[in-house]
Amino acid sequence: MARDRVIQSGEESLPPEPLDVPPALVDFNPNDEAHDESLRPQRLEQVVGQKKVVDRIRIMLDATRKRGDTLGHLLLDGPPGIGKTTLATVIPRELGVDCQIAAGPALSAPKDLLPYLTNAGERSVLFIDEIHRLPANVEEFLYPAMEDFRIDIALGEGLNARTINVQLKPFTVIGATTRAGMLTAPMRDRFVNREHLDFYETPDLEEIVRRNAKKLKTTITDEAANEVARRSQGTPRKANNILLRTRDYATLSHPDGQITTEIAVHALGMLEIDELGLERQDRRYLETIISIFGGGPAGLQAIAHSMSLSPDSLEDDIEPFLLRMGLIQRTPRGRIVTPTGYTHVGRKP
Ligand SMILES: Nc1ncnc2c1ncn2[C@@H]1O[C@H](COP(=O)(O)OP(=O)(O)OP(=O)(O)O)[C@@H](O)[C@H]1O
Ligand SMILES: [Mg+2]
Repeated sequence: MARDRVIQSGEESLPPEPLDVPPALVDFNPNDEAHDESLRPQRLEQVVGQKKVVDRIRIMLDATRKRGDTLGHLLLDGPPGIGKTTLATVIPRELGVDCQIAAGPALSAPKDLLPYLTNAGERSVLFIDEIHRLPANVEEFLYPAMEDFRIDIALGEGLNARTINVQLKPFTVIGATTRAGMLTAPMRDRFVNREHLDFYETPDLEEIVRRNAKKLKTTITDEAANEVARRSQGTPRKANNILLRTRDYATLSHPDGQITTEIAVHALGMLEIDELGLERQDRRYLETIISIFGGGPAGLQAIAHSMSLSPDSLEDDIEPFLLRMGLIQRTPRGRIVTPTGYTHVGRKP
C-alpha cells in the first residue's frame, strides 16, 4: 500500500514488468553501517563537501604539523551518517599518528577508559564515539587527562585512601556526537576545536554517488546520480546504501548493469523512498502523530511508545530531517505536524 503511494511520478514510464525483486531490496535499511568501511574516504582530499569544516580542519592540521605539536581536542557533532567517523579517522592518518577508537556507551567505569589513556602514544588520537553517552564518573576521570595529560587514581579506602597521579603522553581526543546539546558544559569546554557537520547539498551527494559508483565499478548516469542524491536526506550513508541497492537492481534489469534514471526511480520506489527522500518509518512517524495525536502537540515518549521505537532513535534518525524539511515542528508542548507534513502524506490539515 505504502509502495503505491511512493511510486508517483514516472510511474507510466517504468519498464513493463520488473524482474524478481532481489532479496537486498526487501529488507532495506538505509542506515546500515555494514558498507561504511569499504566506501569511507581515507584522506582529507577525498572528503566531499562540508567545505568550511574541511578548510578549517586542514588549517588545524597544517599548523599542528608545522609546530610539531599535538592537535587540540576536537569535537564533531551532526546527524548520523554525515561523516563524523570519517573525519575522525582521516585526521590521524593525515598527521601520521596512531588512532585508538572507543565507544562512549562501552566505557561504563573509569577502569574501562584507563587502558586507552595509558596506551595513548605521543600526539596520538583517541576517538571517542557517542561521547554524550559517557557516564558522569568516566567524564570526570577524563577531564584532567584532557587538560593536563594526567590521571588521578584513587587507591584504598578510609584512612588509607590516597590518590596517585599518573602522567600521560600528550594526545588528542576527538569526540563524536549526534547530540551536542546533551554534552555537559565542562565536557564541551574541554574541546578547543568544535565542528558541526550539517546535511549535505544535493551536488555534493551527487559527487559522492558518482565517485562510489566508480569504486564499485558500476556506471551511473548523471541524472540517475541526481535522483539518488536528491532522495538521500542530505546524508552520505543513505546515498551509499541506496546506490548499493540500486546497483543490485541494475545488475538484474540492465544488460550492462548501468544505473539509468528509470532504474533508479524504480529501485527507489521499491525501497519505499519517496520524492522527498522520506522512508517508510518517516511517513509512519507523521501518520502516527496525525492519526493518534490529532496532529500534535505530542510528546516524544508517547510517539515512541505508539511506534514501538526508542525515543533516542526518533530523535537521532527520524526527526532531524523532518524538522529541516519543515514537516514537523518542535514546541515546548511536543511535536506538531505542519501543514506541509499533512500534505506530504496525503492528508488534509
Ligand atoms: N564527506 C564525505 N565524503 C564522502 N563520503 C562520505 C562523507 N561523509 C560520509 N561519507 C560516507 O558515509 C559513510 C558514513 O559516514 P560516517 O560513518 O562518517 O558517519 P557518522 O557521522 O560517523 O555517523 P554515525 O553518527 O552513525 O556514527 C562513510 O562510510 C562514507 O562512505
Ligand atoms: Mg560514526
